[in-house]
Amino acid sequence: MNKPNQLNFDTRAIHAGQEPDPRTGAVVTPIIHASTFVQDGIGKNRGYVYSRSDNPTRLTVEACLADLESAETAFAFPTGLSAAATILECAEAGAHIVAHADLYGGIHRLLHDVRPRSAGHHVTFVDFADTDAVARATTGQTALLWYETPSNPMLKIVDIAAISQIARTAGAITVCDNTFSSPYLQRPLELGADIVMHSATKFLSGHSDLMAGVAAVSASAPEGLAERLKGLQNAVGAVLSPQDSSLLLRSVKTLPVRMDRHCSNARKITEHLLEKQAAYGITSVRYPGLPDHPGHAVAARQMRDFGSMISLYVEGGLDRLDRILQRSHLFQFAVSLGGVESLIQHPASLTHKTVPKEKRDAEGVTDDLIRLSVGIEDAGDLIADLEQAFG
Ligand SMILES: Cc1ncc(COP(=O)(O)O)c(C=O)c1O
Repeated sequence: MNKPNQLNFDTRAIHAGQEPDPRTGAVVTPIIHASTFVQDGIGKNRGYVYSRSDNPTRLTVEACLADLESAETAFAFPTGLSAAATILECAEAGAHIVAHADLYGGIHRLLHDVRPRSAGHHVTFVDFADTDAVARATTGQTALLWYETPSNPMLKIVDIAAISQIARTAGAITVCDNTFSSPYLQRPLELGADIVMHSATKFLSGHSDLMAGVAAVSASAPEGLAERLKGLQNAVGAVLSPQDSSLLLRSVKTLPVRMDRHCSNARKITEHLLEKQAAYGITSVRYPGLPDHPGHAVAARQMRDFGSMISLYVEGGLDRLDRILQRSHLFQFAVSLGGVESLIQHPASLTHKTVPKEKRDAEGVTDDLIRLSVGIEDAGDLIADLEQAFG
């Protein structure tokens, strides 16, 4: 079945990498909990030795995700951050990295606090929405370029093809965090990125009941990169459990239908927020689907749709924000995103708390910013919830 790009995405989301179980005919991939596998002789086995290196259930979800991301191969991790940390192990000690200034707080912490101390990495943060700034920051000594698009929480759009070209010229590897889009909306490897990573905790798992991470490597990435990452995953031991691999495999089957509903709900919510902007005391709405969003044209070119993340600046100070966050019910006040349920959160005090305040403020992650993750509930009910929370 695993024939990349021969079937449409929606079909591959359900079948890629999966065959009926040869022993029982089960149509769903069995969960193989075994940590170890019997050896038939020295150097002879049935494909498996030890589950940290290879586990049948994990390999199945990895094959499915590789197919969906148009990758040569993919690896499943226990969290998005462990995927990111293992990818960073690919960069030699002392390497120069150019990273997007607008990143999820936990990735920023890895790049700003952890890796410079543990591996001597030198990280230059620039605005990746400004392609020329990335070109200026990237030199022949740069090992890696790291960005998200749309980014968290400012929803900046990065021109994936242009950044891939800059990296290729400099001989650097590009890593695109595709968490906010999922492969249904955007496939960075088709636009020249070398590695795609995900917090699969978000849209890929989609139900806020699973933590997972993914790294998918392009067939056009520098030779040996996929093998290196596989070796590093085994060496550091960051593997998704068989149970969670099965849950992720199940979730991905509904990714296309969930994403379509996420996107159409987000469009309706954005229209409502703009209509009521003055009444709700909203200073501005950031959503890549809006024609006046600075990255709209690039997003329209490289994404199938604009996702379901919306960021808002709200008037009235922290007390008013706190009231809104507490009064919204369907939009539950919680971090994370990409689940079927809608969430509302305050980046400055939660997801981006570890980014120094001056840096947060400089990037626009000010105290008056709220981020919505629009779920797949009825759009009318969600709008009614916002009416009572902001009204
Ligand atoms: C864009 C992005 N990348 C990576 C991560 C980290 O993933 P995890 O929480 O699964 O470790 C997150 C978490 O919110 C995120 O939003």
